[in-house]
Amino acid sequence: MGWAPRRQRLRLISLVTPAPAPITLFGASSPSGQALIDLAGERPLVVAGRRPPLPPAGGGEAPPFLPCDLQDASGPDQAPTGLLVSFAPIWSFAPWLAGWAAKDPAGVAALQGVIACSSSSVITKRFAANGFDRDLVQRLRRAEDLLTQICTAHARPLRILAPTLIYGQAGPLGDRNLSQLRQWLRRLPLLPLPAQGGLRQPIHCRQLAAVALHLADHLSQAGFDPSQPVHVPLGGDDTLPYATMLRRLQDATEPGDAARRCRLVALPPRLFQTLASPLLLLSPKTFEAVLRMSADLAGFTPAHRILGGAPQAFPVLPLVP
Ligand SMILES: NC(=O)c1ccc[n+]([C@@H]2O[C@H](COP(=O)([O-])OP(=O)(O)OC[C@H]3O[C@@H](n4cnc5c(N)ncnc54)[C@H](OP(=O)(O)O)[C@@H]3O)[C@@H](O)[C@H]2O)c1
Repeated sequence: MGWAPRRQRLRLISLVTPAPAPITLFGASSPSGQALIDLAGERPLVVAGRRPPLPPAGGGEAPPFLPCDLQDASGPDQAPTGLLVSFAPIWSFAPWLAGWAAKDPAGVAALQGVIACSSSSVITKRFAANGFDRDLVQRLRRAEDLLTQICTAHARPLRILAPTLIYGQAGPLGDRNLSQLRQWLRRLPLLPLPAQGGLRQPIHCRQLAAVALHLADHLSQAGFDPSQPVHVPLGGDDTLPYATMLRRLQDATEPGDAARRCRLVALPPRLFQTLASPLLLLSPKTFEAVLRMSADLAGFTPAHRILGGAPQAFPVLPLVP
């Protein structure tokens, strides 16, 4: 008896471990999509979208491309297979999947699962006072319901990721939220903030991509299980007050960077809101966004709890330069 030789053991392990499910990726030209391409390694991956994908940041060939406009009701020439992962707007992806399911129910029933990105706004902007944000919540919710209906009807496993504040850079693609805040820090000598600012839980695009890949592996093995929760509100591993988030962004810049010179000035919340009040006439949406700086937009599942491993402190690198 005794131990089998190492090569034989490895062959046995590879026979026992199922091969990763092939993925069809939508929204590959978002930072999270590019991060997924970078993390995919040897996994079979096809990119569906309006533009051909970029190669992985670490080198190698770009994945195969399936031209597909989610606004085009006629669907792609070739049916997507394996597991669908989408970082495209869910309000475009869900009706497109519904159209395809109506035309090709067997194609949808053959999928190994669906992972689609929604947004934590579906929770945090639920009671917004301005029409723009209320419409956004309606669009997100309708799309989430539609995806749930399609996947339940075809007994396909589904996870809807609802991430908060996505930041970071993957290859040449970067976020347009924290990177813009950092541009403000570079331009302004001081930035007024409400004292006792609200909590934030930003998630790096690479963490989001890693969670999607992890769930893809899990779903392809677990199959359809209606007892499992579909909705996954998701954040980074650090929860921090707004001002601390900005200070950490300053500290993450190069030593001579202009962003470091901007002074963060904490104002009493009532004074801060009074100073911001003219915005209410110009743009109620922006005014509400300023008010939200004092709200706690946190408490989502931290990425490391799904991925295992140690929590990653904010900011995870790389950031947009
Ligand atoms: N940014 C955030 O902080 C944040 C927060 C919460 C949730 N989310 C969600 O997370 C996901 C990624 O967000 P992001 O801001 O990083 O994305 P993004 O940069 O705006 O990219 C959106 C992606 O969707 C693709 N897309 C859009 N319309 C399409 C269509 N008609 N057909 C095919 N592809 C289409 C785009 O492809 P093209 O290159 O062809 O345009 C792009 O790859 C989205 O689902 C977003 O709603 C974002």
